Amino acid sequence: MSTDNQVRRKLEGRVAMVTGSSSGMGRAIALGLAAEGAYVVCSDLKQEPSPNGFEADKHIPTHEVISQNGGRSTFKKCDMGKTEDIVNLVSFAVTTYGKLNIVVNNAGLWLPLRDFAEETDEMWDAMMGINGKGTATSMRLAIRQFLKQDIDESGSRGRIVNISSSAGITAVRREATYAASKAAVSMLTRNVALDHAKDSINVNAVCPGVVRTAMASTNFKDPAIIAEMKKGTPWPRLGEPSDIAKVVVFLCTDDAQWVTGQNIAVDGGFTAGIPL
Ligand SMILES: NC(=O)c1ccc[n+]([C@@H]2O[C@H](COP(=O)([O-])OP(=O)(O)OC[C@H]3O[C@@H](n4cnc5c(N)ncnc54)[C@H](O)[C@@H]3O)[C@@H](O)[C@H]2O)c1
Repeated sequence: MSTDNQVRRKLEGRVAMVTGSSSGMGRAIALGLAAEGAYVVCSDLKQEPSPNGFEADKHIPTHEVISQNGGRSTFKKCDMGKTEDIVNLVSFAVTTYGKLNIVVNNAGLWLPLRDFAEETDEMWDAMMGINGKGTATSMRLAIRQFLKQDIDESGSRGRIVNISSSAGITAVRREATYAASKAAVSMLTRNVALDHAKDSINVNAVCPGVVRTAMASTNFKDPAIIAEMKKGTPWPRLGEPSDIAKVVVFLCTDDAQWVTGQNIAVDGGFTAGIPL
């Protein structure tokens, strides 16, 4: 309960759904939204954080950390490669909390680096299926729900933030299909924002650079790859999940009401130019 002396949290009582929330950026985003007062539906392939992650408390599922901190959160299993799971996830969020205000499409599939000629159709289907189609399906279902709701006191009917990648903005060697799937996410973000700005629905994307998570752990364990990533990142350090979460949370607040259709690179300058 807030008193006059307390600052009102920016997302008090809003309902948020975060995909891929068990580890890395999804976990940091779920925790960040909850810290601002949102009720968070956490979802992932499984509730246990990845053992390859760098979180100090990775023995505790994200929704339990939120509850321990006094927030409201539940976990719902969802494979973003399966349309039926996504339908069930959105409907679970709405039945559990009565509405849906924020959707963060963060779950993603990346496969270790290789030249394009060594990639396969199966890799294409998997990455396009989860990163591209999964994000599109989730956005469509979220928007159908938003359209049933009134514009809220913040002036928005609902907010979507997609997690794309710096690889969707600039070409990076040895991840062609992943990059194409993220370019799809970035372009979908712009198109869907255009279609639904008239409905007061915000659609934006955050494009992370190199971030220390379970997904990137094979890169972080290889000094040669990390030296290359550091060379490509002008800022003196690589990224942490909280760098991304803070920008996502901002995009979900009333402060960002007039921001839509944007792909915001949060990448230590990775996509700013050629670092000489
Ligand atoms: N780490 C980086 O350097 C980096 C850079 C740019 C973009 N990204 C993107 O950021 C997002 C988050 O990745 P991360 O780095 O935090 O990795 P992470 O491995 O820490 O977390 C990814 C989470 O997504 C879940 N997930 C994977 N496939 C799923 C599926 N089919 N359905 C539901 N959940 C699934 C995983 O179980 C995991 O909990 C991804 O979309 C990724 O492509 C990562």
